[in-house]
Amino acid sequence: MHYSIAIDGPAGAGKSTIAKRIASELGFIYVDTGAMYRAMALYFLRKGIDGHDTQAIEAECPGIKVSLAYDEEGKQQVILNGENVTPYIRTEEVGNMASVTAAIPAVRAALLDLQRGMAETSDILMDGRDIGTHVLPGAFLKIYLTASPQVRARRRYLELTEKGETCDLSQIEHDIIERDRQDMNREIAPLKQAEDALLVDSSDMSIEEVADAVIAEFHNRKQ
Ligand code: DC
Repeated sequence: MHYSIAIDGPAGAGKSTIAKRIASELGFIYVDTGAMYRAMALYFLRKGIDGHDTQAIEAECPGIKVSLAYDEEGKQQVILNGENVTPYIRTEEVGNMASVTAAIPAVRAALLDLQRGMAETSDILMDGRDIGTHVLPGAFLKIYLTASPQVRARRRYLELTEKGETCDLSQIEHDIIERDRQDMNREIAPLKQAEDALLVDSSDMSIEEVADAVIAEFHNRKQ
């Protein structure tokens, strides 16, 4: 039997930073499902397809193959039709497109089997929007990680400016609120807290505090 931990929550709640830390501490494989949706969004952007053109997107889906690989440091790499696109998916443009195209059933169907299959073969920590509710409903531990939109915007702003990107805090906050709206209100696999998920609000918590709380909860349940 393999253990699985699901971490869901809105954009910028700190899921990936915290998830990486927990996975490395517990020796689990970390799967960032947002990166898979971003890879598909990058494909549509490169082809100049409108994210709301469901028909065009459905027609492209059979020709898109997303897979994951891990480099020598264990960092996840996203492969799109044979190309490692990891360096190109972390922009606001790709994130916003991913939020739009992730609402299309054909896009979600293209990624679901891959995500479920990974949990069958390894101890896994998977983060996203619908992991506890849809992808791994039987996950051993489910966390719903959130923080206020202001705190999330501020974190993303710092992350981007550290990378040398120029950005506007109020624009980021606006985008985050819009992304929450899209992710929570779509018909298929919307972002919501699973009934059996533990709610963690990280607004006033450090990364270490959240990671330690999740690790403690995991060991507690394992006993
Ligand atoms: O976590 P992120 O910002 O990398 O995710 C980008 C978008 O992908 C997010 O706004 C919605 C979508 N997504 C999703 O619909 N389901 C997931 N499990 C993960 C991400």
